[in-house]
Amino acid sequence: MKSALDIDGAVEATQFTDELKPGTTLLRGQYTIERFLNYGGFGLTYLARDSLDSTVVIKECFPSSLCGRSDQVVRARSRSHQDEFKSIVRLFVQEARRLAKVRHPNIVGVHQVFEDNETAYMALDYVDGHDLLDLIESDQERLSPKRVQDMLKQLLQAIGFVHDNRLLHRDISPDNILLDKRGMPVLIDFGAARERATRVSRALSALQVVKDGYSPQEFYIAGVSQGPPSDLYALGATFHHLISGEIPPVSQLRLSAIAAKEPDPYQPLAGRIHGYPAEFLASIDKAMQIFPKDRHETAQAWLKEIDVDTRREAALVRAEWSAKTERLISELVSETNRAVLEARRQQERTFAQAPETPAPAKKEKKVFFSWQLEDDWLVGQEEGEDDSAQEGEADAGSGANGQVAQPIVVNGPTRVNSNGPEPSPESCERPRGFLGILANILR
Ligand SMILES: Nc1ncnc2c1ncn2[C@@H]1O[C@H](COP(=O)(O)OP(=O)(O)OP(=O)(O)O)[C@@H](O)[C@H]1O
Ligand SMILES: [Mg+2]
Repeated sequence: MKSALDIDGAVEATQFTDELKPGTTLLRGQYTIERFLNYGGFGLTYLARDSLDSTVVIKECFPSSLCGRSDQVVRARSRSHQDEFKSIVRLFVQEARRLAKVRHPNIVGVHQVFEDNETAYMALDYVDGHDLLDLIESDQERLSPKRVQDMLKQLLQAIGFVHDNRLLHRDISPDNILLDKRGMPVLIDFGAARERATRVSRALSALQVVKDGYSPQEFYIAGVSQGPPSDLYALGATFHHLISGEIPPVSQLRLSAIAAKEPDPYQPLAGRIHGYPAEFLASIDKAMQIFPKDRHETAQAWLKEIDVDTRREAALVRAEWSAKTERLISELVSETNRAVLEARRQQERTFAQAPETPAPAKKEKKVFFSWQLEDDWLVGQEEGEDDSAQEGEADAGSGANGQVAQPIVVNGPTRVNSNGPEPSPESCERPRGFLGILANILR
């Protein structure tokens, strides 16, 4: 397979004449241009050597519709273009500096940002390998599902890191992911500055800042808000291409179809592709939802969904929590039931000892605690403790002998026995506070 650097360079070099020639030095001799690689509308890319003789990649800010080169120096095409050209150079520097702060093994490292020849440059780590598009298009190499899954996880970690640094990549696609010699994916070619450039410069506004098949629909419409889910769509589209071998349909066409109430031309991966866990494929389909609100909100959320270890950990925590809660509830129920039974026995003893006292005509009742035992599980807690009580409890409400295993009602100084009159609705009310919550859980 050809290296990424062999692909476009030879063709483009013969078509473009404004590029720096091999041997040209930059930043007072710190870098020497070796070879022109590519021109992308906003800038030129070169292979170069630094002062330590290491290979680096140099990107030169060169928006050719605004500028030209004479004696190496880059100048605006006309006076009217001067301000626009200067703002584009400023944007390039700003973006490069922000990018330089994002140090991550799966994101191309920025060595240096500098100005020379009246324009700006960034020196990047050279990634020795080839891009993902080569790999998709080559017949020789097929990545195993395990490798593909690992690669997506690595890239999600990287893109999550980019977003945490308040940056968007904005141009994720198979040609902007390089695989180094160890097969590690590295994100290159951030496109956010290019998109901003089309907004500040009329001359650049016609330049394409979308990639059909990979860009989400919100990238096609000026003024529509873009965020992490936009990058996640493009990452999903990249993996859709890698896994199925098909470039996904253009998101704008999908949007029109949905608006016209026609079927979405997108073909989900889940249920169609073999060899991958269903939830992994479904997560890519989710990232590629047409409306951002239906996608993962963050790279981390997507990662959590597909990371088996994280899922297993979460399930363990949940299981531990529910076992603990169950134990706690069961202890509380036993304790409460013991207290209820003890109180009832006490009540019966008092009733047996006390002389017959007619109940006063009407006195205000005070409910300390009332509980109608009606749950099988709860009744089971008492097994073997008190047969007669169980009988009453199991039959609560209808009561063979009218016995209702419930309210301990204190009626002034006179206690009313459980064989007494039917409790008032007020005395049967469910316990409040923690016991109330507990009773609700148990219902
Ligand atoms: N750090 C790097 N290491 C190795 N090769 C690189 C690196 N950066 C870019 N390349 C290669 O250089 C070529 C141009 O890449 P790049 O994506 O930077 O620019 P582009 O897409 O051509 O233009 P634009 O920046 O306008 O999008 C591609 O072949 C790419 O694989
Ligand atoms: Mg590129």
